[in-house]
Amino acid sequence: MTERQKLYEGKAKILYASDDPAVLVSYFKDDATAFNAQKRGQILDKGRMNCAIATHLFQILAAQGIPTHWIETTSDREMRVQTVTIVPLEVVVRNFAAGSLCQQTGIPLGTELAPPLVEFYFKNDDLGDPLLTRDRIRAMDLASDNQVDAIICLTEAINGHLQDFFQRCQITLVDFKLEFGVNGQGELLLADEISPDTCRLWDQTKTDPKERILDKDRFRQDLGQVADAYQEVLQRVLAQVSPN
Ligand code: TMP
Repeated sequence: MTERQKLYEGKAKILYASDDPAVLVSYFKDDATAFNAQKRGQILDKGRMNCAIATHLFQILAAQGIPTHWIETTSDREMRVQTVTIVPLEVVVRNFAAGSLCQQTGIPLGTELAPPLVEFYFKNDDLGDPLLTRDRIRAMDLASDNQVDAIICLTEAINGHLQDFFQRCQITLVDFKLEFGVNGQGELLLADEISPDTCRLWDQTKTDPKERILDKDRFRQDLGQVADAYQEVLQRVLAQVSPN
């Protein structure tokens, strides 16, 4: 087999070229980072679990008419995705207050946010992914006004679909991060991944504020049982997708 060309290695995934320039292969690693990679580690089998979770979430969203970069999942850690130019924004949706929102505003943990917050951060590790405003996005020419409007519209729809889905899993979708890209045809697509790395997910069957955490906050806060939490999310997602 010929060596594949590695195009990009991120903190949690590697992108390889395929035989088709319009298609890339996204490989999910076990590496975990937090706080802009100041904390590093590995979560056993995370790549396999996130690949499976992201696959199912992309399929669910595609079935609801959301355009995504996902084409097919070809192995337990790899999916073929459309080649896109990533819009350099991290789009964060907050249904309940947690994380940096609580730290920066003092809003108490778990406060319901209605309507949900849609926030933009500059995808730039050197600058520490700063919070943006629409004016800053325009001044920095990171995306057009129309693109930002389209991203907000898609993001709100995605939030509705994901909230419904996770509710059926007895999981509260607290907040999550999305990335978007533009393909060769100029279409705006949901890209990157949706997984316990990029969402806060709270188990509705638990009341203890630490025990209920089923996402990367277990790694960020050294709560232990990180892989077990990801496995629990995977099992619940799979049970919803194929109820038998
Ligand atoms: P935050 O509360 O730290 O701003 O995170 C909000 C959400 O975004 C949370 O679900 C974790 C996710 N997230 C990422 O996926 N990547 C990141 O680099 C950061 C900072 C947050």
